[in-house]
Amino acid sequence: MLSKRKINKKNLLKNKKNLRLDKFIDLALYERNGYYLSKKPIGRKFDFVTSPEISQMFGEIVGVYLLYNWKEKINSKFNLIELGPGNGTLFKDIERTARILPNFFESADVYFIEINKELKKIQEKNLNYFKQSKIRWFKALNCRSKLPSIIYSNEFFDCFPVRQFLNDNNNWFERYVKFNEKENKYYSINKRVISKKILGYLSKYNNQKIYEVSFSRNKYFEQICKYLKKNRGVCILIDYGYDKKIKNFTLQAIYNHKKTSIFENIGKQDISSHVNFNELIEIAKQNKLQINEFISQRDFLIKYGILERKKKLLTKNSNLNKNLLDEEVDRLINVDKMGSLFKCLVVSNL
Ligand SMILES: C[S@@+](CC[C@H](N)C(=O)[O-])C[C@H]1O[C@@H](n2cnc3c(N)ncnc32)[C@H](O)[C@@H]1O
Repeated sequence: MLSKRKINKKNLLKNKKNLRLDKFIDLALYERNGYYLSKKPIGRKFDFVTSPEISQMFGEIVGVYLLYNWKEKINSKFNLIELGPGNGTLFKDIERTARILPNFFESADVYFIEINKELKKIQEKNLNYFKQSKIRWFKALNCRSKLPSIIYSNEFFDCFPVRQFLNDNNNWFERYVKFNEKENKYYSINKRVISKKILGYLSKYNNQKIYEVSFSRNKYFEQICKYLKKNRGVCILIDYGYDKKIKNFTLQAIYNHKKTSIFENIGKQDISSHVNFNELIEIAKQNKLQINEFISQRDFLIKYGILERKKKLLTKNSNLNKNLLDEEVDRLINVDKMGSLFKCLVVSNL
């Protein structure tokens, strides 16, 4: 995913006149001065706020679910792997929850998969109280341990670059990016698809007007499935995405909490897309994993006790602001907020 080039307009121009969309996104996010390598993006003050940053209850419920999986199905030494831990907030809430079952962390080898050096520093700082020697950081998922694993992530798979295809009477076109030096701006063009391999792949979607795909995301998930198949384990991923046909492309850019064009603030703004869960489910099935859950964030959080947790927090601590807690839970589970767009997929070989 990473290359050594520096992202700047001249470079994009010099290297390729037309850059494929996913390559453009890859540069904007993962080059040396791309967004994910240089910015601290997460938090109320920054570009976007994620579920763990909204409420501690999110991480507590994920924690309860991880504990249940470990106790019921592993109950021995294991790898605990978080993909893209952000500020470390989700881990912090899981760690606190897991104190009710001390064997959990005593049995865990903890791995953080994090590409952003700035975020790694924040994770180290925020988890300073925790036995740091227990956490090992990697930039990519290359765990060789043969222990069973619990792999989990929140808003990780939406980061992967996508390719976009348009169907005009069964003639497929792909979106590319071009830079106009005179006007000093990027714009998109559509190029006819001629690769037989890609056309063969797209023929499944001839009844659709558009098709958006992240081959790199699918490949990453496939790697996880193969690892679980070989060594046992479970993967819990929460992300925003869809399982029905989409009418519009989902690629979006966010800068300071506002939607922008992907061609603005390059390297300084987040670019993401909705996860196509059907493809991930298909990959898991091809690798003969069980699909344990595929439900909305709302259903997941309610099923594993967020409403009871809220009540308990309020009874235990009369200083807590009830309205604030109601607001936080509402944001996480309301179908018009994060409740339905965000989904939870659990696949396993346990
Ligand atoms: C949208 S943030 C979510 C952070 C956190 N999980 C949360 O919910 O607050 C994505 C995280 O994944 C990391 N990341 C993005 N792409 C990555 C990649 N290819 N490999 C490793 N980490 C990546 C980012 O640096 C960041 O920590």
